Amino acid sequence: MKFDTAAGPNPIDRLKVVGKPTDRIDGKFKTTGTAPYAYERHDVAPDAAYGYVLGSSIAKGRVRSIDTALARQAPGVIGVVTTLDTPRIERGVMNVAYLFGGDVIQHYHQAIAVVVAETFEQARAASFLVKVDYAPEDGKFDLATEAKTAEPVPADSGEGSGGNGEERIGDFEGAFAQAPVTLDATYRTADESHAMMEPHATVAAWAGDRVTLWTSNQMIGWGHGSLAKMLDLPKEKVRLDAPYVGGGFGGKLFVRADAVLAALAAKATGRPVKVALTRPLIANNTTHRPATIQRVRIGATQDGTITAIAHESTSGNLPDGGPETAVNQTKYLYAGQNRLTAMKLARLDLPEGNAMRAPGEAPGLAVLEVAMDEMAEKLGLDPVAFRIRNDTQVVPTEPDLRFSHRDLVGCLKLGAEKFGWAKRNPKPGQVRDGQWLVGLGMAAAFRDNMVMKSGARVRLGGDGTVTVETDMTDIGTGSYTIIAQTAAEMMGVPLEKVVVRLGDSDFPVSSGSGGQFGANSSTAGVYAACVKLRESIAQKLGFNATDAVFEDGEVRAGNRAIPLAQAASDGELVAEDSIEFGKFSKTQQVSTFGAHFVEVGVDVDTAEVRVRRMLAVCAAGRILNPKSARSQVIGGMVMGTGAALMEELAVDTKRGFFANHDLAGYEVPVHADIPHQEVIFLDETDPMSSPMKAKGVGELGISGIAAAVANAVYNATGIRVREYPITLDKLI
Ligand code: MOS
Repeated sequence: MKFDTAAGPNPIDRLKVVGKPTDRIDGKFKTTGTAPYAYERHDVAPDAAYGYVLGSSIAKGRVRSIDTALARQAPGVIGVVTTLDTPRIERGVMNVAYLFGGDVIQHYHQAIAVVVAETFEQARAASFLVKVDYAPEDGKFDLATEAKTAEPVPADSGEGSGGNGEERIGDFEGAFAQAPVTLDATYRTADESHAMMEPHATVAAWAGDRVTLWTSNQMIGWGHGSLAKMLDLPKEKVRLDAPYVGGGFGGKLFVRADAVLAALAAKATGRPVKVALTRPLIANNTTHRPATIQRVRIGATQDGTITAIAHESTSGNLPDGGPETAVNQTKYLYAGQNRLTAMKLARLDLPEGNAMRAPGEAPGLAVLEVAMDEMAEKLGLDPVAFRIRNDTQVVPTEPDLRFSHRDLVGCLKLGAEKFGWAKRNPKPGQVRDGQWLVGLGMAAAFRDNMVMKSGARVRLGGDGTVTVETDMTDIGTGSYTIIAQTAAEMMGVPLEKVVVRLGDSDFPVSSGSGGQFGANSSTAGVYAACVKLRESIAQKLGFNATDAVFEDGEVRAGNRAIPLAQAASDGELVAEDSIEFGKFSKTQQVSTFGAHFVEVGVDVDTAEVRVRRMLAVCAAGRILNPKSARSQVIGGMVMGTGAALMEELAVDTKRGFFANHDLAGYEVPVHADIPHQEVIFLDETDPMSSPMKAKGVGELGISGIAAAVANAVYNATGIRVREYPITLDKLI
């Protein structure tokens, strides 16, 4: 099905099942420990051996030799596969560095061997007996130093960017020079780790020349193609299965070393092999969100109308890696006639940088929205009023391009009212509650709304059960539930009559989970398959497909009503289709908006920051399930609080690795750190987004929240920290 606009009514609009705050149907499996995650697939591979991955202890250079003789004699060892006896493996979708094979070391903890043994402990013990001789080379590890040599990013590069190099509108320098009120400030954001609960993990088993990988991955379609290429097999010889994924946040968008090494080790040993990456390997072997240095300049008239705005960002990456697209939202968020956005990329030899939840917008808004706060103060304007004054209904860089639906102002106004913003003292450092200095801060939220082609297969069984099959993943987001809701609505059956099967590469290719496109795109794909199934049911039962109403387990038209199941009484009916998004994206800009409000307390003696309460108001199209959507938004708010206050991969700039490579050294906040979180969704639909009229929220919640926290800390203390995370040493 080709989609251009869903202006007319459709069965989803009945909202009998869709739009309800339904509990997650996978919830009880996850909370009772019965959801089978990749590393726990004893059911499919009871005889699996354990692979332990050895990472390079240099950041750059070559491996001269690897001596495995002692390791091979160690108790329980079945085999060792090294990078020197493996030809270099091709890179998969979005891989920056090579994952395995050959003697070149591109970054610290690049995989150089996998030791396979009967138990995990035996494999780990034997890995210490592997002797590696390196020829190290000097590398570049410090962004601050290398920023001076950073190169401009070509206009068409950048992940999800659609053109993210230098972009100029009007005369920025001239307008900035003439503006009566100006701000010119430079900020830094830190390298961050996805730190998902479930590590990257895979069980691989060969049956003849066909390999199955039970793995933890967000994008089965990409992973399937990538692994076929990497293992040099036709796609039908490779199967991926990921029914449950314990978080990803972008770190599992692509194939990583666990999958490749499990497959190679299983082939070499003739046994199924399971591999999980250790926490140090997650930090240094996989990807991270790259640190940035960002400069923002804003010029405005005395009344607070922005006349000039510039946002420039520098980040680093390995050769072939892209920039952190931190200037993205600045092209869309505020009006202003004279504009400049630009990115530079420095060559670094650190582990590869790549997408992490709201890549671009999360660190970009963390900076832009602090700059807006600073500018509001210079203008003597309330920060909410300053943002409302500079709202726009057209894309400022392309005045002919309108937003399909944009209610940022609605978010700002409702949020201010509900949060009690009027009580904020605009003068910082004034409010005291016992030991705590109390401050309020806010920020706007923006995240682009991408859509992806997405397919599904739907079956109607003789007992009236509707089964949905798609390679879509549920990474803790609620995919099972919203897909079931969609099929139930479309087929007119209760939720209990729907079975959802996900994550298997034998199923139709979906959007996968990433870029907050998964919920809207994958349910739209299920919608398309259901439209087809409805047609064949109507035909079978002698109805005109356009007149037939599917409701209460029946198909009705005129004075006829027939049980749905009857259509499948002599055999299951199957339909498959996908949604493809057409030209609308060129005529309308579809984006998501929000406003964050935060109250913090800062201890007057220790400068410890505690978040006391938070509110997000989101304008993100139809909300398919307010309960799972709320969980996504508050999870994003917690994660962004980490970026604001604690999260930082500490770079060893001499040896080129992230030193705090576990969850003891890399601190993340949890929900218990934030006693009150509220989310309000504006009641809206966006017919330009998909037949579901929904958009994404999974990344909107993290977009802007770090700035709201930083602005609250400033309001509490009067100290403006321009370097994240705002640890207490920066406040004393
Ligand atoms: Mo997201 S960073 O595209 O999983």
